[in-house]
Amino acid sequence: MNRHHWWRDAVIYQVYVRSFLDSTGDGIGDLAGVRAGLPYLKKLGVDGIWLSPFYPSPQHDHGYDVADYCDVDPVFGDLTEFDLLVGAARRLGIKVLLDIVPNHCSSEHPWFREALAAPPGSPERARFHFADGRGADGAEPPNNWHAMFGGPAWTRVTEPDGRPGQWYLHMFTPEQPDWNWREPQVAAEFDRILRFWLDRGVDGFRIDVAAGLFKHPELPDSPDPQADARTRDSVNPLAWNQPEVHDVWRHWRAVCEEYTARDGRERLLVGEVSVPTAREHARYVRPDELHQAFFFDLLGAPWDADAFRKVISEAMQDIAGTGSTVTWVLNNHDQVRTVTRYGEPTPQGSGLGTARARAAALLMLALPGAAYIYQGEELGLPEVVDLPDDVLTDPIFRRTGSRERIRDGCRVPLPWSGQTSPFGFTSGAEGAKPWLPQPEWFAEHATDRALADTRSFWHLYRDGLQLRAALPQLGEGSLRPLDTQPGVLAFVRGDDLVCAVNFGTAPVPAPVPGTPLLASGPCPPGVLPGSTAAWWIDGS
Ligand code: NOJ
Repeated sequence: MNRHHWWRDAVIYQVYVRSFLDSTGDGIGDLAGVRAGLPYLKKLGVDGIWLSPFYPSPQHDHGYDVADYCDVDPVFGDLTEFDLLVGAARRLGIKVLLDIVPNHCSSEHPWFREALAAPPGSPERARFHFADGRGADGAEPPNNWHAMFGGPAWTRVTEPDGRPGQWYLHMFTPEQPDWNWREPQVAAEFDRILRFWLDRGVDGFRIDVAAGLFKHPELPDSPDPQADARTRDSVNPLAWNQPEVHDVWRHWRAVCEEYTARDGRERLLVGEVSVPTAREHARYVRPDELHQAFFFDLLGAPWDADAFRKVISEAMQDIAGTGSTVTWVLNNHDQVRTVTRYGEPTPQGSGLGTARARAAALLMLALPGAAYIYQGEELGLPEVVDLPDDVLTDPIFRRTGSRERIRDGCRVPLPWSGQTSPFGFTSGAEGAKPWLPQPEWFAEHATDRALADTRSFWHLYRDGLQLRAALPQLGEGSLRPLDTQPGVLAFVRGDDLVCAVNFGTAPVPAPVPGTPLLASGPCPPGVLPGSTAAWWIDGS
């Protein structure tokens, strides 16, 4: 009999720890806050959570600059609190995934400090990419690559004797030196890290920059050095997606299987994989590599039926067609939230953006494969687009000369209750300030209101997740496109579950008569209103 692999159609909730719930009153969310929020997530009906990095870190990139991979930053708690969280989640049947960051560490990591203190050519430097500069006195970087977040991808160091010296590579900020995965000690260290957390009971890992790790061995100049910074996509063919990375994922998969063989619990590796095509993407989810990889094309598509259709059909053909699962995502901590992305750019989101984001949610939950929900998505939170410059913390803002304000607006702490900030986010004394300011209109989206209003976003997600769990047509399985009028996307799951989305603003005839099982907005029998999605069972 074919065993059902839970991860093939799991729905995972991304917890951005610093913005979820603060139990200590310092204005920053923490692990105890996540534990307190578990019953809320259970009620929502997700299968698991992915915790953004909580390791000791100077927080130059909110924890994606890891100084110690095997501990908890005191701002988020400690290992005892971590164990309590894993235990509580296990009792509720919620899986726990950690965010592991293998492409780079923090410049405060002890091994990088050792590398700085050691001479050129030393084994300590071999764990990173140190190279001599070009030009007179080596004053030019070793190659012309630019970092993802702007600026050159190389920083020059001062040698222990005080002279200007070699350069080191960082594909993100200078505080995030890239590991050299051609050095066996690096791979061995990550083995130790994986096992440290697997031994503590985690269910798997979200892998940061999973198409990174290896660079072209000669580090040659790029024909288009600004491409990464310009597109904000990892497209430099010399810096990303090198063939050797697949051996790492095969090895990590084997480590997971080893744990599964011991206790029967299937672990999950989900990669943050940004590669140019769905075909290339599918190589990361071959049967002996990652279980899942985020397919970001849906997130990148404009609100347009043909654009969505193309993304879905490519994914079904090139990824699901190879026997693996597609992992859908509409929001995360790096992207403008759907309510704002799909609507007019007003400070509080718009009715249109909200309607479209609701429709997109129903669409995503109807697609075959797995889905990830980013915290606040279930509340219909719009992006906070008017944060003052002096509160912004995203390194992209700093490194692009204050031109790009992309990622703070989706990271504002969640509203839980009440009419004024901190909206129950922090349990601290009156006046405790969340680390990013919450606008007054967050009150409309607070979880207490959302739970009390059956028309809320929250109920749409909850109802969608309940149906997904109950109906065999949903989750894993086939998808058959339906012919419809322009501007409408429709497909059948299993024999008879129809999902249709009207991307236009005018109503169209529904593809199935009768009342839908679930709809993203008011949906009378026989009609599919504009900016609406619905699910029906086709009895004909
Ligand atoms: C992707 C993460 O999602 C993002 O937040 C981070 O800045 C980069 N990787 C670098 O680690």
